[in-house]
Amino acid sequence: MSVLRKKPLAQVVEEAGDPNLHEHGHDAVAGGLKRSLGAFHLAMLGVGAIIGAGIFSLTGTAAAQYAGPGIVYSFVLGGVLCAFAGLCYAELASMIPVAGSAYAYTYTTMGELVAWIVGWDLILEYAFGAVTVSVAWSGYVYSLLHDSLGVTLPDWMVRLTQGPWEHVTLADGSQASGLWNVPATLVALGATVVLYRGIKEAAWVNNLIVVVKVAIVLIFIALGIGVISELNLFADPDAGGLAALVPPVETVVDHGREVSRYGWGMGGVLTGAGVVFFAYIGFDAVSTTAQETRNPSRDLPIGILTSLLVCTLLYVGVAIVLTGVVPYRELDVAEPIALGIDRIVELRGWDPGARKLFTATIKFGAIAGLTSVILVMILGQTRVFYAIARDGLLPWFGKTHPKFHTPHVGTTVTGLFIAFCAGLMPIHIVGELVSIGTLLAFVVVCIGVPLLRRTEPDHPRAFAVRFPNAIGLAGAAACLWVMIGLPWDTWLRLFVWLLIGFTIYFTYGRKHSKLRDR
Ligand code: ALA
Repeated sequence: MSVLRKKPLAQVVEEAGDPNLHEHGHDAVAGGLKRSLGAFHLAMLGVGAIIGAGIFSLTGTAAAQYAGPGIVYSFVLGGVLCAFAGLCYAELASMIPVAGSAYAYTYTTMGELVAWIVGWDLILEYAFGAVTVSVAWSGYVYSLLHDSLGVTLPDWMVRLTQGPWEHVTLADGSQASGLWNVPATLVALGATVVLYRGIKEAAWVNNLIVVVKVAIVLIFIALGIGVISELNLFADPDAGGLAALVPPVETVVDHGREVSRYGWGMGGVLTGAGVVFFAYIGFDAVSTTAQETRNPSRDLPIGILTSLLVCTLLYVGVAIVLTGVVPYRELDVAEPIALGIDRIVELRGWDPGARKLFTATIKFGAIAGLTSVILVMILGQTRVFYAIARDGLLPWFGKTHPKFHTPHVGTTVTGLFIAFCAGLMPIHIVGELVSIGTLLAFVVVCIGVPLLRRTEPDHPRAFAVRFPNAIGLAGAAACLWVMIGLPWDTWLRLFVWLLIGFTIYFTYGRKHSKLRDR
């Protein structure tokens, strides 16, 4: 059956070009893309994609509503889940170093239709991930201007900082609906321009941003650990200390229904892990740069796993400090890290000037952090589209610029789409779609590892997972489990999205597939 046709592994690898080929001392060009990235760039791209809205916004809500200070364990659990998926990505990326990532791995293991569905699903992760983070970026910019720097915008401008489904507060204190989220649109367009210009330029901008955001996260952790140990907050649970990390289960009435929260299980640490999963999304985007990497088989696993490890450690550090200095019930705010620094300055008894400066710095770091997430997410999306189009399942997206060696048509169309959605879409709906879409891709990648061990046992693997069956199946099961915990309307939206994907495949992709001629 045509929908089950698989792309031979040797063909996939061959089409990506030989990474060892260097032309007169210049970076090699493979399928129109230029190989100019090394392991360091990849690790930085990973960190660039990972640290963002998750840690700067979701941590507080997850702690206040579900896990309490046990959010530290939620982050550890999230890290373990992503480590399974990260190991599987590392093996497949080292074996099949091509731009299409999960889509391309699936094409060789499960056939064309499933591959298309995974590729279509990746739009939820990368394109809608960029949309979500652009909206969060806009929120932080407004907060920095308005709350920290005291800038008052006229009402008409305030209404241009949110989409039509969100509310804004006007100068007289009344509420109005937003009109268009202009800052979100502008940041998405800015990232698109950088990506259009070249992968080297994008990696350079990303490196710069990553240095700023990691420095700010480290300053937060250092100041927090300092104050926690000096004031001995560990020993004093009433001060929001760490003595009782996981609060006992509590039953509350929510919308007329009794629900339990806190504790280790559902509603507590486990649910917290599902929420903070969003904070880990992005390490896999590294694999989409495979055709722009000089030594992909070696560098992709290093990039994926290093970025994941670094971010897990930073996240656990942030969670310890945050719930150490702020009583967890007070953390239900949009900018928890800014609240944390505020509390640290207060505990240290520094003057209000220092307080303003530190909060503004943290917000600036968050804005920087979110910018690189947007950049790498759009990057990932354009490379997946590039791979799909090269296989004939989509039109135009495979064209590359003769001078910049970027998929310029795909970058322009993708960037405009993301900028448009960022101006209009409500963040909470899109955010959950991003998580479910990513988890689905992770499930398929995790299953792909044991499958390929059977079908392609002799294909060289520069990085091979130990216990592939156990790791692959445990990873898939863990991701499925988190998916099950997501609200049913998110599932419904996923099905509708996949249905649209099916329709496009049967009306366009199946007829234009390059494998059809074989
Ligand atoms: N992990 C990314 C973030 O938290 C998507 O913004």
